[in-house]
Amino acid sequence: MNKKIRWGILGAGRIAQKFASDLKLVEDAELFAIASRGKASTEIFAGLYPAALQYDNYKALVQNPEVDVIYIATPHGLHYEHTMLCVQHGKAVLCEKAFALNARQAKEMIAAAQTQQVFLMEALWSKFIPSWQKMMEMTGAGKLGEIKNVLINFGFIPLEPVADRLFNPALGGGTLLDIGIYNVFYALSVLGKPDHIEARMTPAYTGVDEQCAILFRYNNGAMAQLFSSYSTHLATEADISGSKGRVRLTHRFYTPDTTIEFYPGRADAKTVVPVQPTEGFGYHYEARHVGECLRKGLTESPVMTHADTLLLMETMDEIREKAGIRYPADEI
Ligand SMILES: NC(=O)c1ccc[n+]([C@@H]2O[C@H](COP(=O)([O-])OP(=O)(O)OC[C@H]3O[C@@H](n4cnc5c(N)ncnc54)[C@H](OP(=O)(O)O)[C@@H]3O)[C@@H](O)[C@H]2O)c1
Repeated sequence: MNKKIRWGILGAGRIAQKFASDLKLVEDAELFAIASRGKASTEIFAGLYPAALQYDNYKALVQNPEVDVIYIATPHGLHYEHTMLCVQHGKAVLCEKAFALNARQAKEMIAAAQTQQVFLMEALWSKFIPSWQKMMEMTGAGKLGEIKNVLINFGFIPLEPVADRLFNPALGGGTLLDIGIYNVFYALSVLGKPDHIEARMTPAYTGVDEQCAILFRYNNGAMAQLFSSYSTHLATEADISGSKGRVRLTHRFYTPDTTIEFYPGRADAKTVVPVQPTEGFGYHYEARHVGECLRKGLTESPVMTHADTLLLMETMDEIREKAGIRYPADEI
């Protein structure tokens, strides 16, 4: 292992730029190389990391023996292909969410990493931010009593050019895999695997879900109501309620910028729960964790495990089946 963890980025789009910027906050990490389908989009990284190698194809990146780990930042419809490319070249991988288009792909990706004995983790960054940890601490400590309800919404109206990826079925377009995944992940984190799932969607012009409404029901009477939309700008907040109180994560609930409010009992008066402030965008937490795993020689994160990823993908498969959301990859 190099003195600093040498990161490669595969796909030089919007999230790749934010991740690269946050890598500067990780003491023992460096952006070593960036690969793009075409040279033009890597140039923006030259300003951020002048020393980084720039490749105009992905294969050259995975073939460089000096790269320790690759962050896959392409659209979700390509995560299977790009993870397989990295893993087959013996590279550790941090793959953006949604990890894959369906659970079948996810299982194959994990099996390939296990065969090659390389590290593989889904970049579910929210699981590493201080506000998520504080929310879990509060909901797990009995402070809310028995949790009976999780109510989450996430919505915005996409503008070009991002709209292309967000509505394209081959790339895994639709709200569920892009933004609804956060709603599902938070509900699973607090309430666990649901006993019953109901879901409906409104199709966009391409057939993917422009809006998706999900209901999780649990045999103990708990429910989660999850709503995602590309037709409206929603509050993008989360409420978690129990018999003794409610926790509210304000606008954008899944980021380090959220404020956590605690409403005890019937009271309207809230307490604002202090959360450690964050530098950067918040992607450095997951990047630092990956570095720690690599230094320990792990092939799986103990925080965002392969089982966590599979539960998320299997839950989203069931939601898609109930709502009638299909991708070309489902037909294989
Ligand atoms: N964790 C988060 O907060 C967060 C936020 C936004 C997005 N994401 C995830 O990150 C992934 C990328 O999202 P993004 O918003 O960064 O997308 P984006 O801006 O469209 O960038 C994706 C990049 O993938 C590469 N690519 C390769 N084949 C492509 C194809 N056929 N069509 C389009 N792009 C292709 C392109 O880079 P090159 O031309 O350089 O090869 C493109 O710039 C998605 O899976 C998304 O869910 C995560």
